[in-house]
Amino acid sequence: MTVVHASPSWLDDIPSRLADLDQAHLLRRRRVVLPTEGARMQVDGTTMLAFCSNDYLGLAQHPALAEAAREATYSFGVGAGGSPLVSGHSAANDALEHELAAFVQLPRALYFYAGYATNTGIIPALVGDGDAIFSDALNHACLIDGARLSRATIHRYPHADLAALEAALATSAARRKLVISDAVFSMDGDLIDIPALLALCERYDALLLLDDAHGFGVLGPQGRGSLAHAGLTGAKASRRVLYMATLGKAAGVAGAFVAGDAALVEWLLQKTRTYIFATAAPPLLATALRKSLELIATADDLRHALHQRIAQLRNGLTTLPTNLGWHLLPSSTAVQALVIGSNEAALAVMENLRQQGLWVPAIRPPTVPAGTARLRIALSAAHTEDDVDELLVALRHCAQSGTRPVATASV
Ligand SMILES: Cc1ncc(COP(=O)(O)O)c(C=O)c1O
Repeated sequence: MTVVHASPSWLDDIPSRLADLDQAHLLRRRRVVLPTEGARMQVDGTTMLAFCSNDYLGLAQHPALAEAAREATYSFGVGAGGSPLVSGHSAANDALEHELAAFVQLPRALYFYAGYATNTGIIPALVGDGDAIFSDALNHACLIDGARLSRATIHRYPHADLAALEAALATSAARRKLVISDAVFSMDGDLIDIPALLALCERYDALLLLDDAHGFGVLGPQGRGSLAHAGLTGAKASRRVLYMATLGKAAGVAGAFVAGDAALVEWLLQKTRTYIFATAAPPLLATALRKSLELIATADDLRHALHQRIAQLRNGLTTLPTNLGWHLLPSSTAVQALVIGSNEAALAVMENLRQQGLWVPAIRPPTVPAGTARLRIALSAAHTEDDVDELLVALRHCAQSGTRPVATASV
C-alpha cells in the first residue's frame, strides 16, 4: 500500500540546508588527491606542497610497507572474511596485537579497523547509565560520540583544566568513573599532563582513557607514544590507564588499537559492539603494520628531522606581521595551529595559499570552537627545510597582501 505524506516533505529542505551551510562558509569539499614525491601531492590534478597529512613520519608511501602488504595478499588474500570472534582473527592480526602490546610496553592489546570505531565502541563497553564520564572540552569527536552512546552522565571540563576536573570527580557519586582525553590534541597540538591526569584518576578511583592518535610513533623513546614519553609504561604501567592509538597517522597504514591491563582488554573484547559486530581489518594491513612498527622503532632520524621542521616553522612564524590578529597556539608536536578567527578569513588564507601551490587546510567549527577557525599545519619528516621555508614565504605574502573572501570551501 502506498502511503501519501503531507507535502512538503522534510527531504525538500535538504537543498536549502546545504545552501545555508554554504552561506555560513561551512560547506566542505573533498579534493581528489594522488601522492607524488615527498610531501607533494596532486590535488585536483595540480601538484601542491601539502601540510595536511597526519603521516608524520612519511611512512605511508614507504616501499617496505607496500611490499609487506603485497606479499601478505598471497598468504592471506585481501579481506578478513568475518568479524574477529567469528572467523576474522587472522594469524597476522594476532601477531600484530602481541607486537603492539610489546611496543607500547603494556600487558595486552586489541587491534581495531579504525580509531573512530575504537572509541565509539570501547566507551559504551566500559560505562553506562548511572556511571560518569569526565571529558576534556577539546576531545576528538569519536571520544565525544562514544561518551554520548554510553548513556553515562557526561561532565565536560574546560580544556586541560585539571582543577575543574578534580572538582567534578570529587563531587561525583558514580560507582564507575571514566576520564577521557586526547593525549596530543588533534586541532591544537598540545600535550596533556598525563602524570597529573593519572594522579587524579588514582585519587578518585577513575579509569583514564587516553587517545594518543597524534603521539604514537612520534613521542616517547623509539616513538612508543605519549604514555611512554611520560614514563608510565613497562614496570611503571598502571591498570588505571587504557591507552588507545591510531595506526593511520604516524604508522602510515590504517586502524587503531587499545592496550592496557589484560583483564580490562579481555572485557573490551567481550563487550565492544564495534569490535564484535564488524568485519576485522584485512590481514594485509596488519602485515604492513608489523613492518611499520619495526621502522618506527628505528626511526630516530625521522623524529629528529620532524622536530627540526617544527622548530623551524615556529621560529619563522614569529616574524609574521601581527596586525591581522593571527596567533600560533603553543605546541611542540607535529600539529601546529595558526588561529585566524572567522571561517571566512581562514578560508581566504587557505585559498591564497592554494593559489601559491600550497595545501594547508582551514579547520572550522564544529571541529574547532566558533571564532577560532585556523590553519592546521601538519608537519612531517617528509618535509624538507626548503618546504617549510616555502610555506613561511607564502604565509608572509598572504599576511602582507591581505586576503580576499572566497566563494568555495574545503576540508
Ligand atoms: C584524536 C583522534 N582520535 C581518533 C581519530 C580517529 O581515528 P581513525 O581515523 O583511525 O578513525 C582521530 C582522527 O582520525 C583523531 O584525531
